[in-house]
Amino acid sequence: MERNHVLAPLRVPIVDLFLVVVAVVSISALLLFASSHGRTLFASQDEPTFGQDGKDVEWVPSPSVLVETMLTLAEVDADDQVIDLGSGDGRTVLAAAERGATAVGVEYDSGLVQVSRRQAEERGLSGRATFVEADLFDVDLTSATVVTMFLLPDLNLKLRPSLLSLTPGTRIVSNTWDMGDWIADETVQLDPCPGFCTALLWIVPAQIEGDWTDSETAFTLRQEFQEISGTVTRNGQELAILDGRLSGRLLEFRTERSRYQGQVSGNTIRGTVITDDQTYNWIATQ
Ligand SMILES: C[S@@+](CC[C@H](N)C(=O)[O-])C[C@H]1O[C@@H](n2cnc3c(N)ncnc32)[C@H](O)[C@@H]1O
Repeated sequence: MERNHVLAPLRVPIVDLFLVVVAVVSISALLLFASSHGRTLFASQDEPTFGQDGKDVEWVPSPSVLVETMLTLAEVDADDQVIDLGSGDGRTVLAAAERGATAVGVEYDSGLVQVSRRQAEERGLSGRATFVEADLFDVDLTSATVVTMFLLPDLNLKLRPSLLSLTPGTRIVSNTWDMGDWIADETVQLDPCPGFCTALLWIVPAQIEGDWTDSETAFTLRQEFQEISGTVTRNGQELAILDGRLSGRLLEFRTERSRYQGQVSGNTIRGTVITDDQTYNWIATQ
């Protein structure tokens, strides 16, 4: 009796121990099975799902090779401040940070922001790659030297006025979608196509529409985004501006007789003009 009394309480822990061993073995087997099939258990909590809903556009990741193409097209380097609008799992921001840039991802989905921050930490990039949980239409873009995006055509158009008001020379790169009649300065098409294959680049042009004069010449400049037309009037002779183009602050055009190049800085354009193989300086003010 005495013995039974002593042994009785011992019987329960032995059964418990057995159950614990069975549980541990089962969980280990399950984890082993999952990892051998390339999956992480609890993936639904930790990883985004291709095509999952987003505020204005769903999450579909840019192929990594296209991300690199976009960053190369924009010539992203350590001097750049990159902002990715709708940053998803953070891949563009992380790739820009790998190039030494300071990069910020703006993402509405908090789960995606967490995934991105974790990746930044794991890759030792948290110092240069940061993520803001916000609506991309509410963020101040003025500090950006490069804006990247993979959204939708109508969202690009909605963003267009803010993008055009950024510092001249700011580069905008988009996966696949254009910007309406603001034609891209450069387009790269990947072949073979990794799913999404087009990278488009715009360089924010300076605003130069209007009348400019230097000592002997009057320039009437008309502007459609980066395309420049108008007239040059000198000694009473008016010549049409041909092939006029702005790349950020760099203005280039020609007339029937001359080839002009100039840098726009506020209300001054300063540059050179080649006429009959002679090079002259010109400075026009507005
Ligand atoms: C097509 S995915 C692109 C993701 C990433 N930029 C890439 O190229 O892999 C678009 C992303 O925008 C996010 N998004 C949609 N509407 C948004 C909004 N108004 N503000 C911020 N993020 C938004 C979605 O959650 C999604 O992650």
